[in-house]
Amino acid sequence: TEPPLDELIASIAVDVPDFPEPGVVFRDLTPVFADAGAFRRVVDGLAAPVLTDPRVAALRTGDGDPGFDVVVGVEARGFLLAAAVALAAGTGVVPVRKAGKLPRERISAEYALEYGTATLELHTDSLTAGQRVLVVDDVLATGGTLEAAVGLVERLGAVVSAVAVVVELPALGGRQKLAPHSVHALWTT
Ligand code: PRP
Ligand code: ADE
Repeated sequence: TEPPLDELIASIAVDVPDFPEPGVVFRDLTPVFADAGAFRRVVDGLAAPVLTDPRVAALRTGDGDPGFDVVVGVEARGFLLAAAVALAAGTGVVPVRKAGKLPRERISAEYALEYGTATLELHTDSLTAGQRVLVVDDVLATGGTLEAAVGLVERLGAVVSAVAVVVELPALGGRQKLAPHSVHALWTT
């Protein structure tokens, strides 16, 4: 009775041509997050493939262990998802923020995304060496954003268990940029 999750997301998401600049088709997921049933399925769906990921299996200590100790979310849309995934998994959540937002000692990475450049930052004491991290964002486009976020996590000595996104735009090659990490996408378009 319930549609497959990729079809559900595709039916609710809205494509916006030429936003935020000409030539970009912006995949607006805000209606997906606003829909209670879709949001629950998306949040559960982000963690589910991590539990059966063979790369993550090597990191798991037992049956009740999801294979990650903390969820990292990328500002801003990734925050909506990361906190919910963390709460459902019983972990904490750590923000990777845009430049100038984190108040204490931090590391930074400049990056390019589909429509511009920016800087991401992470508090140096927000992750510990060896901590296993699930990195979450809404959209994987060129992969510049998630590559920068993964790099920050690894500079602190933490281990990326996997990357999970709602939408992957495979034509932009983001998955290749994140290799060898596992990338789990709920909808590929
Ligand atoms: C969007 C999206 C991803 C990123 C993907 O964020 O939420 O983080 O772009 O693009 P990429 O794969 O080409 O790097 P944006 O920087 O627009 O910020 P926002 O979440 O604050 O809207
Ligand atoms: N982030 C980068 N590219 C995007 C797109 N096409 N739609 C939504 N978010 C994005």
